[in-house]
Amino acid sequence: MTQKVQIIIDGKTVDLPVLEATEGRNVVDVRGLINEGIYTYDPGFLSTAACDSEITYIDGDEGVLMYRGYPIEQLAEKSSHLEVSYLLFNGHLPSASELKAFEQEIISRMAVDEHFQHIFDGFTAQSHPMSMTCAAVAGLASLYHEGLDIYDEDHRRETALNLIAKIPTIAAMTYKKTQGEAFIPPDPSLNYAENFLHMCFGKKGRAPDVNPVISAAMDRIFILHADHEQNASTSTVRLAGSTEADPYAAIAAGIAALWGPSHGGANEAVLDMLSEIGDESQIDQYVAKAQDKDDPFRLMGFGHRVYKNFDPRATVMQSSCDAVFKELGVDDPLLNVARKLEQIAREEDYFIERNLYPNIDFYSGITLKAIGIPVPMFTVIFTLGRMPGWISHWNEMLSSPFKIGRPRQLYLGPGPRDYVDVGSR
Ligand code: CMC
Repeated sequence: MTQKVQIIIDGKTVDLPVLEATEGRNVVDVRGLINEGIYTYDPGFLSTAACDSEITYIDGDEGVLMYRGYPIEQLAEKSSHLEVSYLLFNGHLPSASELKAFEQEIISRMAVDEHFQHIFDGFTAQSHPMSMTCAAVAGLASLYHEGLDIYDEDHRRETALNLIAKIPTIAAMTYKKTQGEAFIPPDPSLNYAENFLHMCFGKKGRAPDVNPVISAAMDRIFILHADHEQNASTSTVRLAGSTEADPYAAIAAGIAALWGPSHGGANEAVLDMLSEIGDESQIDQYVAKAQDKDDPFRLMGFGHRVYKNFDPRATVMQSSCDAVFKELGVDDPLLNVARKLEQIAREEDYFIERNLYPNIDFYSGITLKAIGIPVPMFTVIFTLGRMPGWISHWNEMLSSPFKIGRPRQLYLGPGPRDYVDVGSR
């Protein structure tokens, strides 16, 4: 039965249709309210669906995450990041030949133009990696803007291929810049994750030497970060893209949104927090701080806006984290602090009552640290993983009629008043 919601505005009953979701919550279509002279108010978009989408589904209460209907646990176990990228963009799993062609196409596009590398000359080894990555991705627009028709399906596919192919190269160049080392070009004999690790840790003139356990863990990190429906960065890409902006620039806007510690920057914040805690004897003090209402301190890597049960990505990431630790025989005091902190937080009433579980950033942060990725590079890894999600959402929006994203406001400023000349103030 078709549902509707009725609201009464100054005695007048207004019917609002309810749109049915294929999974999860239905939504009240409030678009008709504009004719009634009233807006809805929802800062932070806590209960607002800004679009419809067929890409990713999350049930935060049940800890469910599916890309195009496929559970994240199955994809993380059986798929690869490039297959997931194909799935997200095209909506279906590729056949064996489609997958092979897609992989070859991506690998063949990984290199960046020689002169493009000079974009990094404007930075120093101390520049924040997110600043460099954001600028470099925006810079790609300068290579591909001319003649780009965002309403042409083939041009959008071309854009997606370029971004998915070049982001590992840009991320690795960013890393090399921070290390003051020469850039290493991609190697067509390596797969996507291997190439990224080779471009980061390889040395000029030496044959690739990538540990398969580490490249498998890296690929899994990419898969787990590949999409997360209408999060802040994806919504930013959609919003920027809705102005018909250049897609490389719209993606750069998404990268900026991802940088913040409440979003992608959380994995970096986790490690900063662990360093601040320092050793196991300090943990109780920090757990108490996190519970103190008068103290803004929060346990980074705990809690999630959407997952109020557990983060399914965290469960998968935890097993990769264990595999990496075992492979590398890691013995890092900070990682012991992390394990102890996790155990204490899981037992404290404060965290149990508020459903605050370790999220993906908690485990990805400590895994990346073990692999040898410097902490300021963590959000760049997230950027790399999220690329197929962002570009798939942009493509989805462009594939059907859409409106420029333009929220309204509740104005609380002063009413009309006359300008006062500076000498009379
Ligand atoms: N440590 C201590 N208390 C917390 C934490 C935390 N990490 N997170 C939430 N709370 C408390 C909060 O103080 C509030 O308590 P009370 O009800 O007594 O006022 C309650 O839990 C609900 O918090 P909220 O701020 O209303 O929850 P939210 O859904 O708005 O915030 C969050 C979600 C992720 C911003 C928040 O949990 C947080 O700041 N976590 C730490 C940062 C972090 O790990 N972020 C990564 C998120 S996953 C990455 C991604 O998917 O992009």
